[in-house]
Amino acid sequence: MLERKKTKIDPRVDWFEPVRRVLSPMAGVTDRSFRNACRPFGAQLAFCEFTAAKGLIYDSPNTWKLVDTLDEVDPVGVQLFGNEPEALASAARLMRGKRLDILDLNYGCPAKKVVKKCGGSALLADLPLLEEITKAVVQASPVPVSAKIRTGWDEESINYIETGLLLQDAGVCWVTLHGRSRAQKYRGEASWDAIAELVDALDIPVIGNGDVVDGESFSRMCEHTKCHAVMVGRGAIGNPWLFSEMEAADRGQETAKPSLDDILDVVEIHIADVGSLRGEVIGSRIVRKHIARYIRGFDGAAAIRRELYETDTAEEMLSILREMRSK
Ligand SMILES: Cc1cc2nc3c(=O)[nH]c(=O)nc-3n(C[C@H](O)[C@H](O)[C@H](O)COP(=O)(O)O)c2cc1C
Repeated sequence: MLERKKTKIDPRVDWFEPVRRVLSPMAGVTDRSFRNACRPFGAQLAFCEFTAAKGLIYDSPNTWKLVDTLDEVDPVGVQLFGNEPEALASAARLMRGKRLDILDLNYGCPAKKVVKKCGGSALLADLPLLEEITKAVVQASPVPVSAKIRTGWDEESINYIETGLLLQDAGVCWVTLHGRSRAQKYRGEASWDAIAELVDALDIPVIGNGDVVDGESFSRMCEHTKCHAVMVGRGAIGNPWLFSEMEAADRGQETAKPSLDDILDVVEIHIADVGSLRGEVIGSRIVRKHIARYIRGFDGAAAIRRELYETDTAEEMLSILREMRSK
C-alpha cells in the first residue's frame, strides 16, 4: 500500500482503517444502482446523493428514496445538507434503525439553490454556525459523523485548516477535503497542497478529493498528500473500473482498460438493477445518462446515445446495445 499518515481512527469506525477508495456523493448520479455498479470493482465506501435534512423531516418520499440503502452490505454513507442545527439534528435522529455506517455533513456544495439558503459551502463563511450544526448532529446521530469541505468560500477566505481543526474538536471522525474553494466551483486544478497541509494538521484521517481520474493520479495524490483514502467523483461516472485501477495502483500495479464487451456486461447489470429498484420507465430514464457515459469514446456513441433517449423500456435499450456489441 502507498504510504499514508498514521492517524487516530475512531473505534466506532474501525472498518474505515483499510478503506482507501471512496465513491463521492454526487447528486443525480450515486443512487443505489450506481453504487452497486461500483462495488465489485473495489469501491470500499460509497455515499448516497446529498439529501436535504428538511426533506426527510417533511417525509418527502422522493427525499427518502435518496437514502435507500436497505440491505446494502458494504460500508455506505448518507450525506445531509441544511443550515439549521435543530433540523439537521432531527434528520440525523430519523436515521436511527436505518442502514448506514457514516453520516456526512455537506459543507462543500457550491450550487446557488443550496448556498442561497446558507447550506453547503456557505457554511465555510460562517464557522460558528458550522460548529453549532456539527456538534448538534454529532450528539443526535445514531452513527458516527464525518464532514466534507472545500478549501474556503473564496480565495480571500481560505480556511480549511481552521475548519478542519474545528470539525475535529466537534467530534467528526474524518474530514474529506475537495481541494477547491466555493468560488472555483469545478474550475482550475484541485489543490493537493491544501490536502497535504490538512493531513499534516489533523490527528484524524483526511480523505483527499479532486481530480483523481485513474490509477496514476490516485498514486500521485497519495504520494503528495499521505491522505488516508481518496474519494473520486467525476472520474467514476460511467467508469467503475476506476476503482480497480486505484486498487492495483496501491499495489504498484496497472490494470488493463475494459473492452466494449466488458463495459456492456456491466451496463446490462446496471439496467436490470435500476429497473428492479425504480421500475422500468423511471429506471430507463435514470440509467440512460449513465449508459451515455459508459460508452463515451466508442464508435457511434453519439448516435447510440440519441437512440437510447428515445426508448422507455429496458428491452429496447438492450436491443440497441446488442446491436452495438455485434458491430
Ligand atoms: C454531478 C455532480 C454532483 C455532485 N453532487 C455532490 C453532492 O451531492 N455532495 C457532495 O458533497 N459533493 C457533490 N459533488 C462534488 C463531488 O463529490 C466531488 O467533490 C467533486 O466532483 C470533485 O471530485 P472529482 O474531481 O473526483 O470529481 C458533485 C459533483 C458532481 C460532478
